[in-house]
Amino acid sequence: MALTQTQQFYPGMGLTTTKAPFIEVARSRGELYIEQPYELYSEENHEAWRRLYARIQDRWQRYATEKFLEGVSKLCLDPNRVPRLDDVNQFLAPLTGFKAKAVSGYVPAYIFFDCLRRREFPTTITVRDINSLDYLPEPDIFHDIAGHVPMHTDKRFADTLVRFGEAAHTAARIVQEIKDPELQVQRIISITRALARFFWFTIEFGLMRGKNGELKVYGSGLLSSYGEIAHAIESPEVQRYPIQLEWVINQYFEIDHYQPLLFIVDSFDHLFDLVDQLERWMLEGKLNNVAPGEPTMSEEDIRSFLEAVVD
Ligand SMILES: [Fe+2]
Repeated sequence: MALTQTQQFYPGMGLTTTKAPFIEVARSRGELYIEQPYELYSEENHEAWRRLYARIQDRWQRYATEKFLEGVSKLCLDPNRVPRLDDVNQFLAPLTGFKAKAVSGYVPAYIFFDCLRRREFPTTITVRDINSLDYLPEPDIFHDIAGHVPMHTDKRFADTLVRFGEAAHTAARIVQEIKDPELQVQRIISITRALARFFWFTIEFGLMRGKNGELKVYGSGLLSSYGEIAHAIESPEVQRYPIQLEWVINQYFEIDHYQPLLFIVDSFDHLFDLVDQLERWMLEGKLNNVAPGEPTMSEEDIRSFLEAVVD
C-alpha cells in the first residue's frame, strides 16, 4: 500500500538540497509548481540559512549595488529563519508585481522565461546542506530568495526581466513558424543559447558601475556566494569588460568554478535597452548561428519552445 502524505513527510524532516523526499515525490509525479511545506524545514535548515545570511552581510555592504541593498531592506527577510514565500511576496508584489513561486527543481527554458513575463519567479525551496555551505550542486532558496529576489523590488530591473520573457516569447514564435524540423531545432538551440548566455552574464553574474565609478555587483550568482562576490570585484584573475552584446551571445561559460570573465553595465536602463537590442537582433536573424559551446540545451528545453503557446 502506498504511503499517505502524512506518513511520508513529518514536521522537521528537512528540505535539504538533493535530500528532500518531498521534492523527489513532487518530481516523480511531474509536479513543477508546488507549495512550500514550511513545517518540513528542519532546525538544521534554519541554522544553515542563519549562517549564510549572517556571514554575507558585510560583503553585501561592500560589494552589492545600492538597489540590491534597498531591496533587502524592503523585503524584511528574517535573518534567523528560512523565509516563507508568502511573507516575501507580501512585501514584493506591491512594489513591482513580482512574486516568488515555489518549484520542484529545474524549469525548462521557455517555461522559466515565460514565468518572468508574468512576473513570477520560479523559486527553489530547498536549503543547501549545512556541512557544505559553499558547495552548490543546484540552486537553493538562499540563491533564489537572498540572491535574486531583492533585485525584483527595483522597477527597472523587474521590467527588464519581463522584457526578457517577451524576447523568449518572440523566439518561440519565430521557431514555430519554421517548417523544416531539423532547421527548427538548430534555430531553437542557437537562439536559446544566446538568451541563456545573456541571462548568465547579466542577471546571474553582472557587474555595474556605481555612482563614483566603482564596480558593484548586481548578478545573483555573485550576490549569493560568500566567496565569489569578493573574488569578482577584487581578484586580478578576473577579466572585467564593458558589456558588448555581440561578445556575450557568443561567449560560452562553465558553471563549476568562479567566473573568469564578467561584463559591466552602466545602469538598469542600459540593461533594459540591451534586452531590446537582443530581441531586435533575434528578429533580424543575428542569433541564428551563435558560437557553439556551453550552455547545452536539453530535449526538455527544446520541447518547451516547440510547445509554447504563442498566439
Ligand atoms: Fe539564479
